[in-house]
Amino acid sequence: MLALTYQGPNRVKVTQKREPKLQHPNDVILRVTRTAICGSDLHLLHGLIPDTRVGCTFGHEFTGVVEEVGSSVESLRRGDRVVVPFNISCGTCFFCSRGLTANCENTNPNASVASGVYGYSHTTGGYDGGQAELVRVPFADVGPMKIPDDMTEEQVLFLSDILPTGYQAAEMGEIEPGETVVVFGCGPVGLFAQRSAWLMGAGRVIAVDYLAYRLAFAARYNAVEPVDFRAVDDVVMHLLEMTDGRGADVCIDAVGCEAKGSLSQSIFGVRAKLFAGSATALNWSIAAARKAGNVSIIGVYGPPYNAVDIGTAMNKGLTMRMNQANCKRYMPHLLEHVRAGRIDAQGIISHRLPLEHAEEAYRLFEKKRDDCIKCVLVPPMAA
Ligand SMILES: NC(=O)c1ccc[n+]([C@@H]2O[C@H](COP(=O)([O-])OP(=O)(O)OC[C@H]3O[C@@H](n4cnc5c(N)ncnc54)[C@H](O)[C@@H]3O)[C@@H](O)[C@H]2O)c1
Ligand SMILES: [Zn+2]
Ligand SMILES: [Zn+2]
Repeated sequence: MLALTYQGPNRVKVTQKREPKLQHPNDVILRVTRTAICGSDLHLLHGLIPDTRVGCTFGHEFTGVVEEVGSSVESLRRGDRVVVPFNISCGTCFFCSRGLTANCENTNPNASVASGVYGYSHTTGGYDGGQAELVRVPFADVGPMKIPDDMTEEQVLFLSDILPTGYQAAEMGEIEPGETVVVFGCGPVGLFAQRSAWLMGAGRVIAVDYLAYRLAFAARYNAVEPVDFRAVDDVVMHLLEMTDGRGADVCIDAVGCEAKGSLSQSIFGVRAKLFAGSATALNWSIAAARKAGNVSIIGVYGPPYNAVDIGTAMNKGLTMRMNQANCKRYMPHLLEHVRAGRIDAQGIISHRLPLEHAEEAYRLFEKKRDDCIKCVLVPPMAA
């Protein structure tokens, strides 16, 4: 089959690869119908996630049609159309039974960190991902959700990750009605966090980025107040001025470990990213939140060291919450938001490319070329 494969830092390639097989009675094999590239895939591409092995296939956002069914699978049949959450979860452990599927302890040999994740290095279990024609889905009775007959693959594709992720980011901010929310990042996750903040009753949503086309999109798509951090002298001072000098009630970091705008990164480039990550958006979140405010971290931090300003966070009395998204728990609810038109999830798709052109799609998304917001890959059989 065709599959995107990792070739070492900054290199991915579409290659022929052996088809996945059922390995356990509760597995299914899916024929992938749509798959997307996530900001998290860029951290993998850049070699920032430990134990990313050459030859592995990325892709944790996908829909598919069930092709083969393991003997113990009860809820799925051949031909069913499904969307699959990026977290691989067992459904019954201490964490799963509390809805914390991102923290499942049965799907990842390194379970002290996170659950298994499709296509996300051996740090999260070494599972192959869905940027391929076929993918193996373990615990098939737990994760996948059937796509309702009246809905298309592209309407529900983002329930696999970025929509629940943005929603959880806003939820972790514990937004009270009328509050001011600052979202750092206008990528797909930031966009859905902004939209969710409105749904949760925010009175004001401010969005920070430096890419003019993304700020313009956010302003259009979410009616946010855009702030270009490169166009102001000091973005934290600017945000404080916008919020009566006190700061925002809630700040959301939807950027993660490859944030731009830090001095160390501009001086040391990729080396700074590798050894210290770049906690710039997180430090700006801490600085721009009011005392006793909330900071929600949904951007991914993979590299082990970060110069985070925890002293300021402590002395301001901030509440900080963070996690990988527990997608499964939000999927039914968000499906209804999509169906009712309150969230136009597919409205953020800027590019559709054949799976064969996945390498080009990575470049577009990575370099933010051609006003790229979100790339969807279409495997040949699904075209
Ligand atoms: N926790 C989870 O479960 C989860 C799930 C999906 C994605 N993520 C993470 O969310 C983050 C965003 O993902 P995405 O798909 O939107 O990626 P993306 O790369 O498309 O978007 C990131 C955006 O942040 C902007 N940015 C860079 N530095 C900034 C700064 N200092 N301040 C404000 N904006 C800045 C970039 O210009 C870009 O528009 C990534 O770290 C990704 O790994 C987390
Ligand atoms: Zn993702
Ligand atoms: Zn579990």
